[in-house]
Amino acid sequence: MTELPLLTDFHSHILPGIDDGARKSEDSIAALKKAAVCGIRQVVFTPHFYPHRQNPKEFLSRREASYRRLFEKTDGFRALPAVYRGAEVLAFAGLDRMEGFRSLLIEGTDILLLELPFSAAEHTEELFETIERILNRHRLTVLLAHPHRYEEKSILRALTLGARLQLNAEDAASFFQRRRTEAFLATGAVAALGSDMHRDLRVYDRWTKAAKHLRGRMAPLALPSLPQTETTEKEEEERKEP
Ligand SMILES: [Fe+2]
Repeated sequence: MTELPLLTDFHSHILPGIDDGARKSEDSIAALKKAAVCGIRQVVFTPHFYPHRQNPKEFLSRREASYRRLFEKTDGFRALPAVYRGAEVLAFAGLDRMEGFRSLLIEGTDILLLELPFSAAEHTEELFETIERILNRHRLTVLLAHPHRYEEKSILRALTLGARLQLNAEDAASFFQRRRTEAFLATGAVAALGSDMHRDLRVYDRWTKAAKHLRGRMAPLALPSLPQTETTEKEEEERKEP
């Protein structure tokens, strides 16, 4: 049986011109085509959301503009994997109290893709209390991005609270990361695979190996089927005009 979550790229910086990922639509299209060749059927666009740089409203409007450009260039993502709008949200204490916080979830889901601050010194008690509220009070699914980057202590804390893990294909396929990957799999919390594609298409070369390694060993998350939309009804009407 096909395991759809392994055919879903939960973490990518493919949307053009919005963060340190793809620069132009052509780069984005090349990435989506390569993903399709690797058997990927769904791609979640997760540009970085940095709370110190913008608010959710500004972020969403920039993301929508980028998405629309790509939608137009691909004729509605025709013959490409199904795509979803999301964000890779940098965790901070009080994130759940920020206006518009829920608009950062992966569209059509209750999933929040969260990255921890780079410095372990910022993995504070307040930060974990925030994660706990997101899980227990808001009842959302926290998907912790690329756990290979963080100290074991922080991962364990997040897992104890109920977070789930998204592995990057490069890490999951890496011989050198094998011990940690096995430890993550043993927790039963690995729920998603991602390319974390920025500009180097070669990240998809590791996808098949990573997916093979994870098959049957995840507690996978699935995405709902969504229509690929971008335009408002008014725009649709205008488009029909000769
Ligand atoms: Fe990322």
